[in-house]
Parts: sequence; C-alpha cells; structure tokens
Amino acid sequence: MLIGVLGAGTMGAGIAQVAAQNGHQVILVDTNEEQLQKAQKQLSNTMLRLIEKQKVTKEKSSDIQAAITYTTVLSDFAPCGLVIEAIVENLAVKHEVFSHLEKVVSDTCILASNTSSLSIASIGGVLKKANRVIGIHFFNPAPLMPLVEIIPAVQTENEILEQAVSLVKSWGKTVVVCKDTPGFIVNRVARPFYGEALRIYEEGIADFATIDWAMTEIGGFKMGPFTLMDYIGNDVNYAVTASVFEAFYYDPRFKPSFTQKRHKEAGYFGRKTGRGYYDYSEGAILPTPTKDYVLGQQIVDRILAMLINEAYDAVFMQVATAEAVDLAMTKGVNYPKGLIEWSKEIGTKEILNRLETLFSFYGEDRYRPNPLLRNNVFL
Ligand SMILES: NC(=O)c1ccc[n+]([C@@H]2O[C@H](COP(=O)([O-])OP(=O)(O)OC[C@H]3O[C@@H](n4cnc5c(N)ncnc54)[C@H](O)[C@@H]3O)[C@@H](O)[C@H]2O)c1
Repeated sequence: MLIGVLGAGTMGAGIAQVAAQNGHQVILVDTNEEQLQKAQKQLSNTMLRLIEKQKVTKEKSSDIQAAITYTTVLSDFAPCGLVIEAIVENLAVKHEVFSHLEKVVSDTCILASNTSSLSIASIGGVLKKANRVIGIHFFNPAPLMPLVEIIPAVQTENEILEQAVSLVKSWGKTVVVCKDTPGFIVNRVARPFYGEALRIYEEGIADFATIDWAMTEIGGFKMGPFTLMDYIGNDVNYAVTASVFEAFYYDPRFKPSFTQKRHKEAGYFGRKTGRGYYDYSEGAILPTPTKDYVLGQQIVDRILAMLINEAYDAVFMQVATAEAVDLAMTKGVNYPKGLIEWSKEIGTKEILNRLETLFSFYGEDRYRPNPLLRNNVFL
C-alpha cells in the first residue's frame, strides 16, 4: 500500500521512516520546502548511523531512502491507500487540510491524524466520507518508540479500524486501541506524574531535585518528573495539561499548576532554552536532593497512587482495557511497570487507603478514589 504522510516535522519524518523501513513506498508532503530537505538529510544521517552499528545494510538503507518521495504538492497523495497527517496541532488548520485532502485522494483512502490532543471526531467532522477517519498516534521518536495508540472516532467504520490495526502491527509496533477521549491513554493517565509532583513542590513538601530523586531511586522511573518536563519542554507539557483540563470540563484532577505556568511564562522551557526547573547552562551545578528515604517513599506512594487512580479511571470509563492501559504506559512512556499490575503488587486496598487519606486531608475532588478501587473490583 502506498502511504502518504502530511507534515515533515519531528513526527511526520519519523512516521515516513517507519513506513519506508517496512517496505512501503511513501509520499511525504510539507508546505515548507526547507523542512522536506531537513527531513531527507536527517534520514540520511540516521541511516549512516544504523549502517555503522550494523543494524541495517547499505543496500537496505538505500532502498529505505529511495522509497520516500519528498514533495510540496498535496495532490501527489492521489494514489495513497492511507494518509497520516502530522502537521501543526491546530484544529482550524487540520480542518482546512483534511477538506483539501479528501478532494485529492480516492474514496477508499484511510485518513488518519497523529494528533495528541484534538478529538478525532472533530477532525473527521469536515469530511464528506467521515467513516474513514481514524487516529493513529505515534510517540516521539516514532521509529524508536514501540507504542501506537489507534483511536476510532464515532464516525469510524469497524473495517477501517481493523485495517489500521493490522497495518500498524505489521510495522512491528505495539498497538493499543482506545476511545476518542481527551489525551487518549498515555496523555491522560500520565498527567499525575507531572501534576502531583508539582503539587508536592508547591506545598513545600520537597524541592524539584528531591522529588526527582525519589521517583527515580525509589520509584524506579527512568526520569524524575521535573527532569522529564524540562526534557519535553514546559511550553509543550503545560499546553497538553491545559488542553486535557479544558477538555475534561475542568475536572480538578487535571488542574494545571501555577509553578509550571510561571516557568513557561518566563521562557524556562527546559533543556531547549538552557533553563527550566534546572539550569542547563555550562558549568551550572545541579541541586542536590535531600536523600531522606522516609520522605522519598511518601512522595512515590502519593504520585503512584494518583497515577494508578487515573489508570483505573481510564479502564472504568472504557477508554481502553486494563491490558491496553498497562501496555501503553510501559511501551509509550517507559514506566517500569504497568500501573494496574503495580496496583496488584502493592494491593488495591493500600492504594485506596492512600487516596482516601489524601481525600479526607484535602477535601478536594482531585483525590476521589475511582469506583473500581472503592468497590474492590479486581481487574
Ligand atoms: N512532537 C511530539 O512529541 C508529538 C508526539 C505525538 C504526536 N504529535 C502530534 O503530531 C503532530 C505534528 O507534531 P510535530 O511535533 O511533528 O510538529 P512539527 O512542528 O515538528 O512539524 C509540523 C510540520 O507540519 C508542516 N505543516 C504545517 N502546516 C502544514 C500544511 N498545511 N500542509 C503541510 N504541512 C504543513 C510544517 O511545515 C512542519 O514541518 C501534531 O498534531 C502533534 O500534536 C507530536
């Protein structure tokens, strides 16, 4: 099947590479000629590295590179069986583009979006034949991250879902199917990793370095929340939080933090600006954590209970199965364990107890335990 990818930025270039590596011919379209050249150069550099590491032969590398056609002409998508859109995260722009796209492709072409935060139903809303719209959500970097969330909209025909799932699986990806709800699985369930860490900081319980130390050293996460937010960018991470909060009709569980907002406003985006929660300038000394194991354990217990509560909520609200939620968090954001599995190891009564303690201390809806935990429903 000929694959079209719209947008040759971070995600589009990666998705095009994945498709080409899996034997497809790919049409990669971007309005910006320079971006296309950049994507082509980047792929050539990646291939050189892979040849050096003997992960790909010279021949295969040439085939992969030759399989991608770089173009600024949208109508070049005409013979495609699937087009994956990965342009700017703006609904008005996506609407315009999907309307154009539908005019140039065949009636049987699947139209997918890689959006992280917009509803697939809203994107499909402008299509005349909306039963072929679907979300195919890759993680960054697309060639390396195994997870892909596939999101059927209310308009999506079952056959389109089946085709998308089997195609993306054939690319060696771990596929999870989820409901068209804000943040899908990963960007919803992961919110407390950042939000509760920020809240702990704001209450003066611990500083950034101590929270990061606790979550990595005791919690076993690859990166602490503040290091990770600095890596993702506080501008991007704050925007995702704000959009999920708004999309959930201001559910207090997703409330953004003033600390992150102020960091964003100050231009303290993180690594990319040289300053975030930490200072990345040359010679800067990173703050040392307070290695208090009792405090550290309390921090981990609290953030983990909130993450588990969110995982249960995603299952409770039928966003995805328990198995899919665990796969999503381990394969999409490298959590050391699936959250549902983790809850069973710790004991769901213990998680409920932690949440109820927080709920009664704060009296805030943010800490309400999910009914599955409250009623001891075994997943
Ligand atoms: N960056 C991530 O970590 C990430 C992860 C998952 C999903 N996403 C989603 O993927 C999409 C793309 O994100 P990105 O980070 O790759 O963005 P990006 O800014 O790196 O790239 C977007 C590209 O789209 C091009 N573009 C813009 N308007 C266009 C148009 N009308 N026609 C053709 N090309 C156009 C731009 O020139 C640019 O090259 C967004 O919807 C985003 O939410 C991003």
